[in-house]
Amino acid sequence: MTTTSRQWVVAARPIGRALSEDDFRLETAPVPPVGEGQVKLRTDWLSFDPAQKSWMENIAGYVDPVEIGGLMPGAGLGEVVESHHPGFAPGDLVTGPIGWREMAVLDGAKLAAVPQGVPPTAALGVLGGTGKTAYLAFVEVGKPKPGDTVVISGAAGATGSIVGQIAKLSGCRVIGIAGGADKCAWLVDELGFDGAIDYKAGKIRGGLKQHCPNGIDVFFDNVGGDILNDAMARLAVGARVVICGGISRYNADPRDPEQMPPGPRNYFNVVFTGATIQGFLLPRYEAQFAVANRRLAEWVRSGALRYREDIQAGFENAPQTLMRLFDGRNFGKQLLRVGSA
Ligand SMILES: NC(=O)c1ccc[n+]([C@@H]2O[C@H](COP(=O)([O-])OP(=O)(O)OC[C@H]3O[C@@H](n4cnc5c(N)ncnc54)[C@H](OP(=O)(O)O)[C@@H]3O)[C@@H](O)[C@H]2O)c1
Repeated sequence: MTTTSRQWVVAARPIGRALSEDDFRLETAPVPPVGEGQVKLRTDWLSFDPAQKSWMENIAGYVDPVEIGGLMPGAGLGEVVESHHPGFAPGDLVTGPIGWREMAVLDGAKLAAVPQGVPPTAALGVLGGTGKTAYLAFVEVGKPKPGDTVVISGAAGATGSIVGQIAKLSGCRVIGIAGGADKCAWLVDELGFDGAIDYKAGKIRGGLKQHCPNGIDVFFDNVGGDILNDAMARLAVGARVVICGGISRYNADPRDPEQMPPGPRNYFNVVFTGATIQGFLLPRYEAQFAVANRRLAEWVRSGALRYREDIQAGFENAPQTLMRLFDGRNFGKQLLRVGSA
């Protein structure tokens, strides 16, 4: 008997516009037999990242091209139901590049066991790519020193909220920029940020002046656009600007100069301050993954690092769940519970 599985495929490329439900199509496909070294799993959770939109657009050169009609890529967590790989047995929980499908057959080499002693979904967020991005981008590119003033955009998001806590653990003063009073209150009251600026409530320049009287030593950017520009105006001497994300530009067409937002008008401030601006891309830091995983796991187990999850439910809601990231409806790491997990 052939087993089948529901899966979401890419129906259109959302270049130069916001995502739409029509960019995805729900299909049923056969699940192939399990080959040598492979594992069959049932998906319990899907993990969402703004970069998935750029994967659909085929403009992100660091991932395999995504075909129209091809499986929607994405990370997930599943339970092994059959294994022809010596490292996994039925019942094991694993994470990996499952894609948006309810059942998958994957090479065991692409999967990682969910660590013991933490809630399994942590392996998709704080102990997954999100946490590693926060840790490695902040430590390796931001090069924090105790006493530094650190400003983070997208601060209440999955990545930004971890960066801010690591900055506090590093002895820094931390100011977050986020959308809405609830998210700002959470940063200060629950996570111990020293201040928060609600960019949706008005211009952020005044807030940065108030919170950073001696300038910004590390600006950790997840957003780009006007927020990056305003932060560039307040850099301290020797500042480090970490370009981790630029979600304010993800709906613009990079091939069309008319659509692309201008670069930061205050860029010349790097001359006066001797600041550096450096991009970060997680796959380039694979050599440091083990160190990052160890530090993050220690902090999570000790309670030093807290995280919040935004849990949606139902495989059929995967497209809507991805869209939540682009208007800030998510409050914490965006996850989707699939099936009866
Ligand atoms: N370079 C890398 O290797 C790497 C790896 C992972 C992630 N990233 C980047 O890190 C960033 C955060 O990713 P995440 O997974 O942690 O998502 P997230 O921050 O949990 O969710 C995205 C957040 O972006 C904010 N946002 C959306 N549109 C915005 C706009 N136009 N202007 C300002 N803020 C906006 C929203 O927060 P508000 O409610 O505060 O607006 C939303 O909650 C993304 O830019 C992502 O591409 C980079």
